[in-house]
Amino acid sequence: MFTTSEGELNITAEDGTKIKLATLTGTEGDVGIDVGKLRAEHHMVTLDYGFANTAGCQSAISFVDGDAGELRYRGYNIEDLAEHSTFPQVAYLLLNGELPTPSELEEYESAVRSHTLLNEEMKRMFDAFPRKAHPMGILSAATAAMSTFYEQYHNPRDADSVRESTIRLMAKLPTVAAFAYKKSIGQPYMYPRNDLDYTSNFLYMMFGLPVAPYEPDPVVSRALDALLILHADHGQNCSTSAVRLVGSSEANLFASVAGGMNALWGPLHGGANSAVVAMLNDIHEDGNDVAKYVKMAKDKDDPFRLMGFGHRVYKNFDPRAKILKGFAGNVLERLGVDDPLLDIASKLEEVALSDEYFIERKLYPNIDFYSGMIFRALGFPLRMFTVLFAIGRLPGWMAHWQEMIEDPNTRISRPRQIYAGETSRDYVELEKRV
Ligand code: ACO
Repeated sequence: MFTTSEGELNITAEDGTKIKLATLTGTEGDVGIDVGKLRAEHHMVTLDYGFANTAGCQSAISFVDGDAGELRYRGYNIEDLAEHSTFPQVAYLLLNGELPTPSELEEYESAVRSHTLLNEEMKRMFDAFPRKAHPMGILSAATAAMSTFYEQYHNPRDADSVRESTIRLMAKLPTVAAFAYKKSIGQPYMYPRNDLDYTSNFLYMMFGLPVAPYEPDPVVSRALDALLILHADHGQNCSTSAVRLVGSSEANLFASVAGGMNALWGPLHGGANSAVVAMLNDIHEDGNDVAKYVKMAKDKDDPFRLMGFGHRVYKNFDPRAKILKGFAGNVLERLGVDDPLLDIASKLEEVALSDEYFIERKLYPNIDFYSGMIFRALGFPLRMFTVLFAIGRLPGWMAHWQEMIEDPNTRISRPRQIYAGETSRDYVELEKRV
């Protein structure tokens, strides 16, 4: 960990009790109040729905400044990483703390390349799913199933085992994702091609067929690589917290990552990218009436929300959304895609950003507002969007799991509750109950 500073906060409760709490200030100035002893010393716990104002750990992986709209991985701005780096380099950075030297990168990429195949026995698992199975369900099931093939690497305290697990997950997730897709459309599974880079190989497994040559388009490959970089980490988001929570019981990395994938699936998290495009489609089919949907989103009696707007942390433009906004126009132009949904998205953004409801609540477009449009332009079907997010987020999940395991402060995650049920009562025999 980097240098943090310790302090103290003194509070006087209503009854005059003096409460002394330790504080910890992070390297970017965040102040945390340590309430760990509050219950033991004062019979109190903190109450914080959705952990919106609670830090559960110290972390050196990514820094999110929600007010300034900034995101850095290990100190590097995501703008720089998205423009100049590659997804495997960023994965290495998140996992190891430093960008790789050329020889470290070669060694890392070659290790990943040599594990892209799935065990043939695992292939049979894909056949067992219904044809229309959602690829996120297959992805998380296959990731949990992978743990059964690598039981020799389950010891979280053994650094070599952890490294072997991170390499295998990184190598095999694109293969699993592409197999899940091929299964859903009834096409043959395509085995990986290790002469291709990480992202091009994934495109090949997704869109290639055994009957004809397929060369991934470098424009598509580069765009997808940048998208994966932008999804790679984001502090203690819902799925990363799930990975840490599962892993805090010392469950193996595969099982912990599978837990994170299930958390990512929900429409309020990674599922939002497909929900955005589905919503834009609905607006399109409903005569492009953007104002009607903005009105629905503002109506408290209507559960509808504008998908792709709002964020727990960003109260300013999501920096990833800012990059993707420029990117979306370029990619669509270079690929010659003319998508009517893009016009609706622009109009929606314009209307929402000038509406008092959205301004007051600081609801800006988030990453999912633009990523879905780009995934669509790159040729991915709607149901694969959250899978792409998962491939991007994998290095972040693994880096957090590793950091948690190595942190001497880690304890099994076990939040408290404020009990709000019946107080003690006597048991009534069945025949006496009315
Ligand atoms: N449309 C309409 N109103 C919204 C929206 C939205 N998309 N998002 C928030 N609001 C409103 C809420 O109704 C609430 O209004 P109120 O104060 O009058 O009650 C206020 O803004 C605050 O919203 P909360 O739900 O309290 O914010 P929270 O931080 O809990 O939720 C979330 C954040 C889940 C992202 C939310 O904004 C949302 O549901 N957005 C749509 C789904 C989405 O795009 N998710 C992707 C997030 S990014 C990611 O996971 C990578």
